[in-house]
Amino acid sequence: MWRVLPLLLTACQNPTAEPRPTEEDTDEPERTEVPAPLLTSPAEAEDLDAADDVVHVSLVADRATYSVGDLTVEGYAYNGQNPGPTIRAKLGDTVMVDFQNMIDTPTTVHWHGLRVSNDMDGVEWVSEPLLPGASFTYSFTATQAGTYWYHPHLDVEHQVDLGLYGAIVIEDPADPVPDRELVVVWDAWAEAETADEHTAPDPKTLLWTANGLVSPRVELAGGEVVRVRVINASNAGYLDLSWPGLRQIGSDQGLLPAPSEAGSTLLAPGDRADFEWVAGSEDFEVETALYTPSGGSAIGEPRTLLAVEMTAPEDAGAPLSWSGTGDPVSEDPTWTDLMYVLQGGAAAEDWLINGESYPDVTVRSLPTGTEAVIEVRNLSATEHPFHLHGHSFEVLSIDGVAPAQRTVEDTINVKIRQTVRLRLLADNPGDWMVHCHLLGHEAGGMMTVLRVE
Ligand code: C2O
Ligand code: CU
Repeated sequence: MWRVLPLLLTACQNPTAEPRPTEEDTDEPERTEVPAPLLTSPAEAEDLDAADDVVHVSLVADRATYSVGDLTVEGYAYNGQNPGPTIRAKLGDTVMVDFQNMIDTPTTVHWHGLRVSNDMDGVEWVSEPLLPGASFTYSFTATQAGTYWYHPHLDVEHQVDLGLYGAIVIEDPADPVPDRELVVVWDAWAEAETADEHTAPDPKTLLWTANGLVSPRVELAGGEVVRVRVINASNAGYLDLSWPGLRQIGSDQGLLPAPSEAGSTLLAPGDRADFEWVAGSEDFEVETALYTPSGGSAIGEPRTLLAVEMTAPEDAGAPLSWSGTGDPVSEDPTWTDLMYVLQGGAAAEDWLINGESYPDVTVRSLPTGTEAVIEVRNLSATEHPFHLHGHSFEVLSIDGVAPAQRTVEDTINVKIRQTVRLRLLADNPGDWMVHCHLLGHEAGGMMTVLRVE
């Protein structure tokens, strides 16, 4: 613990990151205590439509200046806030977003993880970028419950790093109702400056924020049950989250068949997870183990991201019964329709999929309605969060081993030398981007196009 805190202090020079006194501190000279900032969910976008099944919001990308710890960021923001406003809808709703580009460069908005129609996907392969001053109304139907996010899909390495992202929550009215929901968007700052395309940032010095705050705290009232929806919006930082009694209830594409108590959850850039917190007697801390895409778990003490405090420790709560569909893991049909080989790095200059660097890529296609098996092999010396647009996929196996329960994702971290097999129903016609969600790799060419026709 003590080895971590000085590091954190030098990393961000932030008075609010100062440790709260513990019992061991009592013989130290007294100092004025600056309480850690209180973490709340990002403000939600206002629904401008009275109809119950229509969510109509306005979203403006503009310049913004932030203080992130001791750092001043001349960045961008949606609706003047970082993270951008959370867009909340329920299954079946029509979502309309009146978007306006007020930044000084072209942009688009992409709806990460959602099945939208191809012309709403916000990618330059399909539609013209929105020039400064331009507006566009994006619309889609909310067909998947879960935790999603939106971000630009143009000059993405810089625009996301400068603060353009926000959460999308799609509720399933059949889910259990917690006392509270907390949306936490984690980002690591100034990554573009600390890492070039070929080197991963040092997990010891990444400046992490939760909803823009360095080392905040959350208070749980007596008996409270909280659904915590977590997004990793960083360009290149991995989170390997843990806390006592960690209970993961959902992943990229909604609730897991049954909660997982595996003890830790790895969130690569682009990944989401839902957790349940139940107020109990003990305060706890959310930590991340040090993790780097160039080799996985790194040596060093975990870092504390967030403190969770009980305001009425005598009133413990009771967990809810979260469960997704009871479907079993699908059997691997053993054929392969599409293979993606991930290569590249410092030696090759470019990051490659099947030997090609975007935009000089061969478009591969699948007939609409195919139940396809995709195999992804990582032959490079770093991990890659593999992401596909417009569809979700079930994980059939990782290095030949089926997951413990059915897992439906849109982003999956593929470790060095790993092979993952994914099952996909290719039922959304269009040209869909397939890419690595380490944004430096994406910018370096690790992106291709899958045509469903
Ligand atoms: Cu989150 Cu193609 O992106
Ligand atoms: Cu990558």
